Amino acid sequence: MSEKNIQITLKVWRQKDASETGQFETYKMDEVSTSSSFLEMLDLLNEQLIAEDKDPVAFDHDCREGICGMCSLVINGIPHGKNALQTTCQLHMRSFSNGDTITIEPYRSKPFPVMRDLVVDRTPLDTIMQAGGFVDQRVGAAQDANALPISKEIADKAMDAAACIGCGACVAVCPNASAMLFTSAKVSQLNMLPQGKPEKDRRSLSMVNAMDGAGFGNCTNIGECEAACPKGISLDFIAKMNRDYAVASAKKFFGAIG
Ligand code: SF4
Ligand code: FES
Repeated sequence: MSEKNIQITLKVWRQKDASETGQFETYKMDEVSTSSSFLEMLDLLNEQLIAEDKDPVAFDHDCREGICGMCSLVINGIPHGKNALQTTCQLHMRSFSNGDTITIEPYRSKPFPVMRDLVVDRTPLDTIMQAGGFVDQRVGAAQDANALPISKEIADKAMDAAACIGCGACVAVCPNASAMLFTSAKVSQLNMLPQGKPEKDRRSLSMVNAMDGAGFGNCTNIGECEAACPKGISLDFIAKMNRDYAVASAKKFFGAIG
């Protein structure tokens, strides 16, 4: 696709912090290269604002390669924008047309308060990880490759779950503010593998309890999370987590785990 410059209008959410009321502000940009990424376009906007002696727009980003999950923007009403299986940092301005108006908002979810402008606090996702998103066993030195047999089917599924980058789009798009897609991916990536099995029950209980305690809602099978997820995490993992949780709860009830 050949490069060209387009004119766009941005409606950007500006908010000093969680205690202040925010509002949209409108900015016009006359020469945006269609080869630039969405975040490069925001960099350009900030250069424009700084040159005008105005506050730049605060937004989250880190890797700009689709792997860190930091670029949490709602673009024209959709977390990460309208392109499927793509993070905000992978979105390019060639996805827009000359004269477009683009609305940019922060994630709107009670568990994710706005820190400033487009930046929200996603610490509750870390709280869930801290409750059990690890393997706590001494594993010694690294084994030779293939020393631990894992079937291809299980390895593939665990990799699918491990693709979650913790961006929180699933929470932002869910009318229940449910974090079950995220939590189920993080529980499943470890519960399915031999290294994670010894702590499977304890992990399932503690991560689900941490999720509930952090104020996230329940899943009611709406499916918006799967549609918005840039990594294609399947709703099947939620069903799997519910099964793992039910088994662990029954074992706890009968005293099989402490
Ligand atoms: S499940 Fe998908 S949308 Fe949710 S945090 Fe993980 S990568 Fe992001
Ligand atoms: S900035 Fe890292 S995934 Fe977008």
